[in-house]
Amino acid sequence: MKHARTTIIAGNWKMNYGPKRAAQFTMEILPQLNQLTHHDHNNLLCILCPPTISLETVHQLLQMSHYPHIELGAQNMYFEEQGAFTGEISPLMVHELCRNVILGHSERRMYFGETDEMVHKKTLAAFKHAIRPIVCIGENLAQYEAGQTEQVIRAQVQGALSQLPEEHLGELVIAYEPIWAIGTGKAATPDIAGNVSSFIRHLYGEMYGREAATALHILYGGSVTAANISSFIGHPDVDGALVGGASLKPDFVELVHQAAEAALL
Ligand code: 13P
Repeated sequence: MKHARTTIIAGNWKMNYGPKRAAQFTMEILPQLNQLTHHDHNNLLCILCPPTISLETVHQLLQMSHYPHIELGAQNMYFEEQGAFTGEISPLMVHELCRNVILGHSERRMYFGETDEMVHKKTLAAFKHAIRPIVCIGENLAQYEAGQTEQVIRAQVQGALSQLPEEHLGELVIAYEPIWAIGTGKAATPDIAGNVSSFIRHLYGEMYGREAATALHILYGGSVTAANISSFIGHPDVDGALVGGASLKPDFVELVHQAAEAALL
């Protein structure tokens, strides 16, 4: 085994699969996923992140069979606990169904104006309510081409992840998702994903010390498939993946299988 950190494969369904289709798809993949995550591969965690309206349906299917290594995640939440915030869901609500939440996805930043400051508040709210935050960061194509990746990552990490409570430092998951690799079929090379992940771990270490940096989970996201997942997991600082398009197909099972194999090497 390459290190003590759990390998995490999270499927971000984005705005796909309402309750009916979500139920069908979940029933299709669950038994096989369970075999993969449960038996030989106890160090693997799979997180399904359906749209909000389908969380309850998938939650019930997971509950019925007690799949210990398959968890549920929301794709977003607001940081306030309740009140007049039409259309939002609160950490209290997420906590009823989910152990995880994706925060600050680049699509939320691009289309819905999320800032590092908001992601910071949401991250604190997640910790307060015992929800594991999966915080997304990553540079766009222009920034990548201008060689500004580290600068952008540093600003995002410092902006969204400063002053976190000490007792929760080890629970954070950061997903490095270069925007130019999302949904393009052009994944980052394992070297790029690995080097940026090492940089993120180093930064986190600067902020919170070596122990917190060692516990931090870093996922790569952007055009991850069953065919390329092993090459990312092969890097010592990449602890798994945040998967978009490929998490919507039955082939997701094969992707998780490949990840499990790679994690054992
Ligand atoms: P794709 O895997 O479809 O490129 O999406 C990545 C992503 O944005 C996951 O959050």
